[in-house]
Amino acid sequence: MNDASNARSSTAISGGVHTPRRHDSAHKHVTGTAEYIDDMAEPSGTLHAYLGLSERANAVITSMDLDAVRAAPGVVGVLTAADIPGENDISPTHRHDEPVLSDGTSAFYGQPIFAVIAESRDAARRAALLAKVDYEDRPHHIDVVSAVEAGYPHVTDPLQLRNGDAEGALATATNRLSGEMRIGGQDHFYLEGQIALAVPGEDDEVTVYSSTQHPSEIQHMVSQALGTASNAVTVQTRRMGGGFGGKETQGNQFAAIAAIAAKRYNRAVKIRPDRDDDMTATGKRHDFHVTYDVAYDDNGRIEALDAVYAARCGFSSDLSGPVTDRALFHSDNCYFLPNVRLRSRPMKTDTVSNTAFRGFGGPQGKLGGERVIEEIAYALGKDPLEIRKANFYGIDERNVTPYHQVVEDNIIHRIVDELEASSDYQVRRKAVLAHNAKGGVLRKGISLTPVKFGISFTATWFNQAGALVHIYQDGSIHLNHGGTEMGQGLNTKVAQVVADEFQVDLETIRITATSTGKVPNTSATAASSGSDLNGMAAANACGQIKARLVAYASEHFGVPAEQVVFVPNHVRVGNQLIPFPELVRQAYTHRVQLSAAGFYKTPKIHWDRQKGQGRPFFYFAYGASVSEVTIDTLTGEYHVDRVDILQDVGKSLNPAIDMGQVQGAFVQGMGWLTTEELWWDDNGRLRTHAPSTYKIPLASDKPKEFNVELANWSTNKERTIRRSKAVGEPPFMLANSVLEALSMAVASVADYRECPRLDAPATPERILLAVERLKKV
Ligand code: MTE
Ligand code: MOS
Repeated sequence: MNDASNARSSTAISGGVHTPRRHDSAHKHVTGTAEYIDDMAEPSGTLHAYLGLSERANAVITSMDLDAVRAAPGVVGVLTAADIPGENDISPTHRHDEPVLSDGTSAFYGQPIFAVIAESRDAARRAALLAKVDYEDRPHHIDVVSAVEAGYPHVTDPLQLRNGDAEGALATATNRLSGEMRIGGQDHFYLEGQIALAVPGEDDEVTVYSSTQHPSEIQHMVSQALGTASNAVTVQTRRMGGGFGGKETQGNQFAAIAAIAAKRYNRAVKIRPDRDDDMTATGKRHDFHVTYDVAYDDNGRIEALDAVYAARCGFSSDLSGPVTDRALFHSDNCYFLPNVRLRSRPMKTDTVSNTAFRGFGGPQGKLGGERVIEEIAYALGKDPLEIRKANFYGIDERNVTPYHQVVEDNIIHRIVDELEASSDYQVRRKAVLAHNAKGGVLRKGISLTPVKFGISFTATWFNQAGALVHIYQDGSIHLNHGGTEMGQGLNTKVAQVVADEFQVDLETIRITATSTGKVPNTSATAASSGSDLNGMAAANACGQIKARLVAYASEHFGVPAEQVVFVPNHVRVGNQLIPFPELVRQAYTHRVQLSAAGFYKTPKIHWDRQKGQGRPFFYFAYGASVSEVTIDTLTGEYHVDRVDILQDVGKSLNPAIDMGQVQGAFVQGMGWLTTEELWWDDNGRLRTHAPSTYKIPLASDKPKEFNVELANWSTNKERTIRRSKAVGEPPFMLANSVLEALSMAVASVADYRECPRLDAPATPERILLAVERLKKV
């Protein structure tokens, strides 16, 4: 078999890039054998921590009597701010505005003010309820509009994006309209809640198992809270049972408390809040209040837009700066705005500090922009799709964004044209109009909305990644990278890249838990950039090892380097075909280093926030969806009848996983815009803190007909990993067509004379109120 013809005839490897392999843990997820932190064997003597939460939105804590807590059965001790050996701060941006445990004040209803450590979780949880806390109330503002009116501060500097002369163009406008929109927040509802297990080591060392998207930040926050150096803390994450942005920073508090307690009692400590406390005490998607003033011509082309995006950020900054920035970056969506001024208002409120959530402000930015389009369409009596198309970015002209990046890879025209045809949009829209024209209780709506989403962290330095690849003597490969697995299939994709690099079957590669000890100084797995960054870093590591193997083989067998080629499960060296493990074994005996650390940083990007100009994004991912809905005008209830999607993922690394990401993101987006409503009472207490009161989509809520396609002709103009594109967040925003279709169904009761101005989420109550309002016009 040692000849070149055999090399050509050997079949392709199994599980290389661009093949639809299942998620590496799919079978373990469904059979319950995938190990989450709460499944891990606990070290003997493990203690359990539970949080004590405040019960005021804004107050000074005048006294905290914890005697009954300490005396409760099974309790080993209680931690308060005074027991934190290092800094009492977990602010991810080092603003020192977010304590591990609050010190003397309550900044929101549900803020952790102490932690109980007990022999069992049940004992800790029961004891936490025995605290006697006295408060001196201060006035509170829960809502973003009331915070603005009260003159509350921003939690971080607002951003302004400007191009052209918006104010001038508005003043001389042909047509002009203005309005406002409220866009709701969202709880992450990851199936596995927040959790950390800290195991003390010798000296000041501690190992923390954390359900986090950001092990490096957990490491830094834990070491800061312990007052130790980062090298004393090792953080490990095998997988999360969902993160969705809710574990980008929100795990810090739990990890810090577990680690502090573990060092204090020199025993392993686990902390896992129940669902109600998790929903109350951790941040969510920001809700927004958007105001807009738009000028447009008689064809519906936008001449100028002046918009303000105010967000409920909560008591601290957390990631609210970058989230509200990203809202502005996406308020243009696919539309060219020749004269534009966009301003963010990251408002402090007396609520939990809001955080990252799939799309990271982008969904809210886009939805505000789509409202502007809808307003123009209703004002002109046209199909909103016509207005959308009239405003699309051009290919060689009309292609400068409000942040002065030129859109160089615009494929939205083709995406929308193909989807319009494949979904039979025009025929179905006529049928919807005809159905509604008959009157009746059930009304229909249909909408096509596009998405353009910028890929890269806007904090340029986050766009770096590392990987560690070892080949053992038997030819099996150990893969580690700085990204984290949360269900999105990152580990599978990166393993496919490694399989492809060495031309070995995917089964040869073992994916190992993310550890700060293996790859340091990583960024959060976020901004959809996981496979772009870590895939490249892993390829870089493979490239180094391959170069050494080629040099060895070339020298050892006396053939030119070009004649050493990695072919499926073999290496062809001149005329010889050597099995991969055999070459590896030989290379080992000749003292070739079979391990490498890889690195990658995204090229071309830069961003000057002060000027509001730069190229924050390496490229854009595109997509579009058509949704058709039916509403009941007597009850406000509705169904999503059919959804068609065409999503650009470049040249897909794994079409099966990408398909799952598109479907899941759409349904999660639909939940955000329809049934998921967060509701705080007048005391600032979150009343929707369990599935009984907070309704995420059920399997039965999925569109009755759901046609999802990846644009198989697409590629990435930029040199990303195997020309793929990020997929994690962009399809979330495809759900915008559901809201706009509901809006059309509502508008039918007044013969489309008026834009219904539906706020999000469009719950049945809100649909019914909008119908009642429009019936009167
Ligand atoms: N998919 C699953 N199943 N679970 C998740 O938690 N998070 C989303 C998305 N898809 C998430 C998911 C979010 S918010 C992001 S930013 C990306 O995955 C992160 O992973 P990636 O960068 O590897 O795509
Ligand atoms: Mo995703 S919101 O960037 O974690």
